[in-house]
Amino acid sequence: MREPWVVGVSGASGTPYAAAVVGGLLDAGEPVDLIVSRAARLTVLDETGRSFRDAHWAEDLAAWLDRDLTDADVRHWPAGDLAAGPSSGSYRVRGMAVVPASTAACAGIAIGLSKDLLQRAAEVNLKERRPVVVVPRETPVTRSHLEHLIALHDAGAVVLPASPGFYGAGAAASAQQLVDFVAGKVLDALGVPHTLFRRWSGQLGAARS
Ligand SMILES: Cc1cc2nc3c(=O)[nH]c(=O)nc-3n(C[C@H](O)[C@H](O)[C@H](O)COP(=O)(O)O)c2cc1C
Repeated sequence: MREPWVVGVSGASGTPYAAAVVGGLLDAGEPVDLIVSRAARLTVLDETGRSFRDAHWAEDLAAWLDRDLTDADVRHWPAGDLAAGPSSGSYRVRGMAVVPASTAACAGIAIGLSKDLLQRAAEVNLKERRPVVVVPRETPVTRSHLEHLIALHDAGAVVLPASPGFYGAGAAASAQQLVDFVAGKVLDALGVPHTLFRRWSGQLGAARS
């Protein structure tokens, strides 16, 4: 059985990024351990119109991702469960993506607050020197936000702002193409193959042809 990637969804806007990353991992045959923060339930509700409930996570996640899931695909850990597997370095995972990452999650991970399982799992993966990708979503930012991102970078995380490029799809890019660009960059950083965006070919204007 392959070791899973942890995907932590915090309460920043951008739940489509999380769905695209989870979908991309599953498409690549990579199992996912999922942690959805308390605040992220509000953004999921706001941005998808759907609830995400611990007791019904499998059906809620299937609806959110709009795909059928098996027990082997995704394991869900409640964000309040600090005894869960990903809270320990001895629990084997490949690494972690925090997507989207709220300013609060960035701050908590940067200073080792571990106020919930998402923050603890990120800290664990950093200390174990596994790949960690953090996708901050806030604009504009304060000096303290920037300092927390520098601390995350210095701790070994890839800081990958939710900042899509247009070169893969052109100026008429759909929202989903822009989401997939960011999700594809996350998978690139984790070393997971995908076809979420068209790569730069070295030819100007190729996206319009
Ligand atoms: C609808 C909604 C949208 C939000 N969008 C953002 C955002 O884009 N970026 C951010 O840093 N915080 C955002 N917040 C605030 C966070 O949810 C809040 O700071 C929360 O404490 C984050 O907790 P968490 O990191 O444990 O998920 C938003 C909150 C709500 C309710």
